[in-house]
Amino acid sequence: MPSRLFPLGGPVSEKDIVDREDFLVSLETRLLEGQSIMLAGPRRIGKTSLALEVLRRIKAKSCHIAFVDLFRYNTKREFSLAIIDACLENRSGISKTTAALKEGLKKIAGGARLTAKVQDLELEIGLPGEGESDDELFNYALRFPEILAKKDKKQIVVVFDEFQEIIRIAGEDALKVMRSYFQMHERVSYLFLGSKEGMMNTIFGDKRQAFYRFATMLPLPPITREAWNEYLSSKFAEKRIVVKGNSISEIIDLSGGHPQDTMLLCSEVYYALIEAGEVRLTLDFVRIGYNRAMLTLSPVFDELLDELGKISYVRQTLIDIAKGLRIYSGRNVNPNEIKRAVDTLVSKAIIEKTSRGSYNFVEPMLKSYLINKIDVY
Ligand SMILES: Nc1ncnc2c1ncn2[C@@H]1O[C@H](COP(=O)(O)OP(=O)(O)OP(=O)(O)O)[C@@H](O)[C@H]1O
Ligand SMILES: [Mg+2]
Repeated sequence: MPSRLFPLGGPVSEKDIVDREDFLVSLETRLLEGQSIMLAGPRRIGKTSLALEVLRRIKAKSCHIAFVDLFRYNTKREFSLAIIDACLENRSGISKTTAALKEGLKKIAGGARLTAKVQDLELEIGLPGEGESDDELFNYALRFPEILAKKDKKQIVVVFDEFQEIIRIAGEDALKVMRSYFQMHERVSYLFLGSKEGMMNTIFGDKRQAFYRFATMLPLPPITREAWNEYLSSKFAEKRIVVKGNSISEIIDLSGGHPQDTMLLCSEVYYALIEAGEVRLTLDFVRIGYNRAMLTLSPVFDELLDELGKISYVRQTLIDIAKGLRIYSGRNVNPNEIKRAVDTLVSKAIIEKTSRGSYNFVEPMLKSYLINKIDVY
């Protein structure tokens, strides 16, 4: 299948990562220097894309890498095996080395070669079998990146995506165990990503937590207008589409520069052009694309609003903010209730406080949706 002009829905490759070059260079430098980093941010702003790209660059420098996405695991055992497998992939070139070893090496093609690749580790520290308890395996997995890196005289960068899920998978106490190993590691840098900013900030920023100040917290800056402008202009030019007037500027205004929403909007604009057999991008097509993008987003927004409607004042407060109303003095509601509602919205990364004390929507299209749909609530 040909790749889409505007990638959507998952990590994007280097050529489609807009405006993150400085950030990527800084991330790579820090990780190679041995610093561990925590990067938290709302859904769909490009965390995983960045991590995968930085790993690609680091691997090209012949360091080891490991990527573990915690959304994919439910138990300590699964998570532990995922760490071991991600590390072993540097040696074996396959993603599920432990399973392949267990399945009986003789039976699988290339089995002998695979054994040869990991034999030294097996002899020295053993590879996980069936016998270990979950905790034994967990402890083993936590030691493994450093052991491998030492053995191979390399540095390794380990990424934990959606790291806040560790509490669901292994319980809060697991953090203490992890920290006790990680802090001893000399050849491993860790990159912790998380989409639940509140939880991530607690794990890394709360004095009572084991990971307190273990990693440098880096904020992910918004993508600039200029960068979007340049990227979108070249994308449309690639398809020989002539951009009329301020169509691109209008696209960025409508999406607010939100990474995935901007891609979605452009995608819809592009399909509208193809369907019409048109090669000139005008404001009319931007409007059609915008309406279609909103149609795609509305079930997502509705579900979110339903969920927010279950907590007192939260949905109403969000609507008031969208409308630009004064939230504390507008209604006859205890300010503490409003404060709690605002805190909920911030912790869910739906809004963020600006330096001037007002609130921004993380996803500006949600704000427009609310303004236009307001009479329903
Ligand atoms: N720097 C960027 N340039 C262009 N598009 C981006 C960028 N970052 C994110 N996107 C868009 O957002 C989508 C999601 O990116 P990615 O999966 O990396 O984000 P994420 O923050 O890890 O999301 P999730 O919360 O789902 O894990 C991409 O498919 C792309 O459409
Ligand atoms: Mg992600």
